[in-house]
Amino acid sequence: MTRPESIENRWDILYRDYPEVYEAFSNTPYHPTIYEQLPGIIDLAGKCIADVGAGTGSSSLALARLARKMIGIEHEAAMLQVAREKAGSEGMERVTFVSGDALALPLADDSVDLVTGITLALYPPEQYRDFIREGLRVAKGPVVYVGISPGWYGGDLYDVIDDPEKVDETVDHIFIDEFHFAYQDIFSDQEYGTLEHIVSTYGFIFGRKAIAHLKRENKTTIRWKFRVYWRGRV
Ligand SMILES: C[S@@+](CC[C@H](N)C(=O)[O-])C[C@H]1O[C@@H](n2cnc3c(N)ncnc32)[C@H](O)[C@@H]1O
Repeated sequence: MTRPESIENRWDILYRDYPEVYEAFSNTPYHPTIYEQLPGIIDLAGKCIADVGAGTGSSSLALARLARKMIGIEHEAAMLQVAREKAGSEGMERVTFVSGDALALPLADDSVDLVTGITLALYPPEQYRDFIREGLRVAKGPVVYVGISPGWYGGDLYDVIDDPEKVDETVDHIFIDEFHFAYQDIFSDQEYGTLEHIVSTYGFIFGRKAIAHLKRENKTTIRWKFRVYWRGRV
């Protein structure tokens, strides 16, 4: 397959055909990471957690360091395979990755302490209603979601990248206004090191306008504003 210059924000194509680019993008260092900041907001220690939209396993493996048990749930076979390989090579025995849908979780009622979705990125965003209902069904404790703060799609290049759908505003409305989640914003700076690396990962995902801007400004860092939503005692 010839690799295009960019997939222009088609995350479905990214997960299906380029899991290695997602892996390089998500593992480019963040300071401080979501995983470092989350335990200051949500008590994860000793919990049995279902991490929904586990992707290549980064969030599940990081949060599992605090948890008693971690079940990573992912519906894309290519992502699941990378996650399982990583768990094996890191010897993380209390982590299991299972194939499953965020909208119909393969778990019994009240079977885990906590449900997390770390940049689960459901599309279309109306699907979050079912994720929330499913999370509340299977969790004895809180349901936690970490998404991009409204207006921050693509991080601090939000005004360069076209975001006509404004998905994050719909997500925000569903969590806060419809389902009465509490929230807190956190910041993270992602350092790519070189122009070549940021263009072939972040630029590949977020599009040609982003690539042109990165090159013009010789920019290798992206600042992100994430929003942590939770409902239930944390
Ligand atoms: C942006 S990635 C986040 C991965 C991981 N949580 C992390 O922090 O690195 C979103 C993941 O959610 C998965 N996903 C999207 N919709 C889903 C659904 N309905 N059920 C299960 N997984 C889903 C995608 O396949 C993708 O792997």
